[in-house]
Amino acid sequence: MIKIAPSLLASDFTRLAEEVKTIDNADMLHLDIMDGHFVPNLTFGPGLISALRDKTDLAFDTHLMISNPEDYIEKYAEAGSDYITFHIEATDHSHRLIQRIKNAGCKAGVSLNPGTSLKDIEIILPDLDLVLIMSVNPGFGGQKYIPQINEKISRLNDMILELDNDVEIAVDGGIKLHNVNEVINAGADIIIAGSAIFGSENPYKAIEKFRDAGE
Ligand code: DX5
Ligand code: ZN
Repeated sequence: MIKIAPSLLASDFTRLAEEVKTIDNADMLHLDIMDGHFVPNLTFGPGLISALRDKTDLAFDTHLMISNPEDYIEKYAEAGSDYITFHIEATDHSHRLIQRIKNAGCKAGVSLNPGTSLKDIEIILPDLDLVLIMSVNPGFGGQKYIPQINEKISRLNDMILELDNDVEIAVDGGIKLHNVNEVINAGADIIIAGSAIFGSENPYKAIEKFRDAGE
């Protein structure tokens, strides 16, 4: 079963508590943390995540697009994250960070920019709960899906099949109803979508359509 993770980035920031209630048929809420340094944009931090924590029962999928992720793991765990994903490009100590995320009681994910090779995560793959493949350059919603990413997803899927443990593949950026099938066929388990869900007239129905498309 495909999981759907709407990205809060595309929601109406003046009505966040109401926005998260419109998507209670989703599997998790994707939270994009940007620091204006690792990516050229700024969003929100742990304070906002903890303010939202009692507004929904959805799992919180925190995507850290920040430099020095080692300085923030516990803060995002305490704020209510269920998954914490950092960028492999942002740290020299990925193995240690994964252990810290798990020790903080969260599932551990690593994200790769479109131009980053899967080789960079080969060694740590057995320790991960999730790999987040960026299908746009991180920093902004509403960008176009990069088609070469399909092959990257299927190669990652092959790498995971050789392991004893299950690692979920999340794909993030530019996913719409017209291309979600190719992303799922390539091997995605979690579909992250911002503008196609919160930007639609009825986010609840948009999630249903995504699920139907995946069947
Ligand atoms: C981009 C973010 C994505 C973004 C996806 O840096 O990581 O999660 O919100 O938005 P759409 O679906 O509009 O491309
Ligand atoms: Zn994201």
